[in-house]
Amino acid sequence: MSARGRLAGRRILITGGASGIGAATARLFREEGASVSVIDLAGENVHVADLTDAAATAAAVTAAAAAMGGIDGVVNAAGIDLLSDFAEQDDAAWERVLAVNLTGPMRVCRLALPHLAERGGTIVNVASGAGLVPLARRAAYCSSKAGLVMLSKSLAMELAPQKIRVNTVAPGAVDTPLFRTSYETAADPAAALEAIRDRYALKRVAEPAELAEAILYLTSDASSYVTGSTLAVDGGRVFH
Ligand SMILES: NC(=O)c1ccc[n+]([C@@H]2O[C@H](COP(=O)([O-])OP(=O)(O)OC[C@H]3O[C@@H](n4cnc5c(N)ncnc54)[C@H](O)[C@@H]3O)[C@@H](O)[C@H]2O)c1
Repeated sequence: MSARGRLAGRRILITGGASGIGAATARLFREEGASVSVIDLAGENVHVADLTDAAATAAAVTAAAAAMGGIDGVVNAAGIDLLSDFAEQDDAAWERVLAVNLTGPMRVCRLALPHLAERGGTIVNVASGAGLVPLARRAAYCSSKAGLVMLSKSLAMELAPQKIRVNTVAPGAVDTPLFRTSYETAADPAAALEAIRDRYALKRVAEPAELAEAILYLTSDASSYVTGSTLAVDGGRVFH
């Protein structure tokens, strides 16, 4: 696909950009003319940091801003899943999920803020349908994503005077390494995948590129009057 320039001149920081939804977003954003810096645990041409490490995250955001000459947009796509019976879930597992999925994005937003404030900008947080309607055996994940939805709304209120728009995308099932682990470890993976598909009106799993298009909309000027919103990109699950 040739570049259409919908992000020409924009400098975008993407966490979790080495895989899945973040990687598809980085690819699309570059096609659209953006400069992109990725923060992830590992990968080629990424600023390596574990988002649970405050000092490493701060260094990575500083390096990303220096590499691009500033930051006009943030996409918080890094995240981890946790499928476990609540009775068996210890504090460390709970804290790890909250640290990666909620505290991590909060920290990246705060670190990027001085850059975003220079001429206004955008933040898109990748939450989940699981942050809007519950799933069993995912108490930590659902709680972290519900928290991220509210963090985004709170920041949308507070940062609007600085011309910073903050929105959330809530994906359904998306074909990525994170998603595949949710059914590949089941006793009958094919049946588990079928049961997941059945939750969605469209009865299919999304491609990461379909999420990238929604994140592009919320990052580009096409959504110039949109802030504080949560866009479900989930083949029709949370609306019913
Ligand atoms: N795939 C789905 O079905 C689905 C559904 C709803 C929401 N989501 C959300 O979408 C986002 C992207 O998920 P994905 O499916 O593309 O997963 P993925 O595993 O393919 O990609 C996630 C990326 O985040 C990075 N990451 C994880 N922990 C990190 C940490 N501590 N520090 C820095 N980077 C870290 C990983 O290394 C990886 O590159 C996540 O927030 C996830 O919760 C995914």
